[in-house]
Amino acid sequence: MNSSSCIGISTMKPYCRILTSYNSSSIFSNFNNLSKSQTKQFNSRRFRSCGSQITGYIGVIESNRRCFIVSGSNWDQSRVFFNHVDKIWSSGSGRGRGRGSLVISHVASDLRNLSTTTSVDSTTNVVNEKGFERIYIQGGLNLKPLVIEKVEDGHGLVQEEESNRVGLDGSGVSIDDDSKGLGERKVSEIEEEAWTLLRNAVVSYCGNPVGTVAANDPVDKQPLNYDQVFIRDFVPSALAFLLNGEEEIVKNFLLHTLQLQSWEKTVDCYSPGQGLMPASFKVRTVPLDGNEEAFEDVLDPDFGESAIGRVAPVDSGLWWIILLRAYGKITGDYALQERVDVQTGIRLILNLCLADGFDMFPTLLVTDGSCMIDRRMGIHGHPLEIQALFYSALRCSREMLIINDGTKNLVAAINNRLSALSFHIREYYWVDMKKINEIYRYKTEEYSMDATNKFNIYPDQIPSWLVDWFPEEGGYLIGNLQPAHMDFRFFTLGNLWAIVSSLGTPQQNDGILNLIEAKWDDLVAQMPLKICYPALEYEEWRIITGSDPKNTPWSYHNGGSWPTLLWQFTLACIKMGRPELAQKAVSLAEKRLSADQWPEYYDTRSGRFIGKQSRLFQTWTIAGFLASKMLLENPEKASFLFWEEDYELLETCVCALNKSGRKKCSRFAARSQILSNEK
Ligand code: GLC
Repeated sequence: MNSSSCIGISTMKPYCRILTSYNSSSIFSNFNNLSKSQTKQFNSRRFRSCGSQITGYIGVIESNRRCFIVSGSNWDQSRVFFNHVDKIWSSGSGRGRGRGSLVISHVASDLRNLSTTTSVDSTTNVVNEKGFERIYIQGGLNLKPLVIEKVEDGHGLVQEEESNRVGLDGSGVSIDDDSKGLGERKVSEIEEEAWTLLRNAVVSYCGNPVGTVAANDPVDKQPLNYDQVFIRDFVPSALAFLLNGEEEIVKNFLLHTLQLQSWEKTVDCYSPGQGLMPASFKVRTVPLDGNEEAFEDVLDPDFGESAIGRVAPVDSGLWWIILLRAYGKITGDYALQERVDVQTGIRLILNLCLADGFDMFPTLLVTDGSCMIDRRMGIHGHPLEIQALFYSALRCSREMLIINDGTKNLVAAINNRLSALSFHIREYYWVDMKKINEIYRYKTEEYSMDATNKFNIYPDQIPSWLVDWFPEEGGYLIGNLQPAHMDFRFFTLGNLWAIVSSLGTPQQNDGILNLIEAKWDDLVAQMPLKICYPALEYEEWRIITGSDPKNTPWSYHNGGSWPTLLWQFTLACIKMGRPELAQKAVSLAEKRLSADQWPEYYDTRSGRFIGKQSRLFQTWTIAGFLASKMLLENPEKASFLFWEEDYELLETCVCALNKSGRKKCSRFAARSQILSNEK
């Protein structure tokens, strides 16, 4: 085996040792015969298994030859696998024949480049023609780039750098009740209860905390996937822990989910797109290589392939980037985001988001249910929530990406997209009384570059509820924009996150809070906050949700009230200098959450009932409440989590849909949005 001489395994764990001793007739030769579920398990085992210390490195043995060395970790498996795949494929086992042998040589020789490259091609084409970066990986298996911690120039022993350890080596996070921070603050009984519940929701992997389950309802007979760690659900848990001075669980989460990130090009049916982050993952304990006496933990990700409705978790990668930045800001540990593998992870997500498609708008085009609302709710196209998270993730990435020759094009693309995206949303998604009146008087069927009614919106689609509902002051960003279609529903998360990220202009952000305040009885009522307003009813409900019995009017995603949105509301209020509004909402929630056993959501117009099918002891309800409390107590920490207007971005030329010319580049356009709003 050519490559074996070049692969060293130190601190070998039994699992690794077993794998390395397989020969070509091992499990791999039957790879193609595995059933889907076996393949999934196989894949997940390949992704992650116990004993992690992410401590791979390259040793340069000769100037033109590098040794590929890994020290006992679950990371090793990919590499070890490749070693075998190499053997199998080169001995002609069908799929990918001849490709395997290239894997080792490419990985070994291009490891350094992995850190500055992202477009991956599993055969010979470059996926992303933008040319931000390029990685050529041959072979179809998921391979994550090795963490390069040190490049040796000779024969010396390669040291692991302490700062690059994942903290999975037993030096775990303290999740005791008296961990840092909490003990110093006086917490109410309800908060104490919430902390206990939050800690009970912590999931461990190989003895270390890596996340929190979505819900921990002891009487729930059918937990479905609520016993998994959801990426989006973990964000408020992470913030609660970070604000409480407990950072290891967050670091572990970020690194482990990074390892689950899809590294496969989308070629085959149902394989996740490269760079996709899973919606959730589960820690499973399985027999170690068929041996019923020994067990190991494995991480099993779900990219939507098991999810109800097979929805795509578009928001996961965006949340991951947002959390990564928050981790750095709150802990001051910027080394994490500077790691080679972390930088590569960011770039993979961005490449997926920035890839060209048929669509020509700066907004992201997605399928229905690709975010917190993960069921059919008529939010396919360009839903606000995804755009706001996308904008935030771009801003985070701009701060975190290390600029070098390999990333400068990507950074330029980010800047362009940020400008275009904010221009687009500010211009076409914003509605207030004045704008609605304009739409009311729109001419239609305008074929020309200088159309006023660019999306051919028929005034008749202005819903009757909206005409009376609009307050004199304030406005909001609509839920979605498509040809001849404005979704006028108010979606809370998107609007709040537009404030937090400054996707809206300062005046629009203010206007959104004004509207929430003016429409308090509709949007907050008895439980903060409505996920969207109003609910789809009657024929609309039947057609748009597909008669979904879970999403009946004023329930669940269809106008239900979700206490987890409290932390985002709190953040938005603190940013806009109106913490008293958040305080009012938190007090409302505080009165009921504990008594109601921390429901996932509430039903009815006023949020009066615990949701029909609501889980109890829902973790992000608990964590969202705690995070809100802590943010209100430490507003200076909240400032780590939001963004002010970036005036530099306004200087970037915006190629808007313009009145004259096919592609008019206007530096003034973006700035004028702010100026006209100031009037
Ligand atoms: C539901 C929610 C989704 C959440 C998941 C786990 O599917 O719609 O947003 O992530 O439950 O709590």
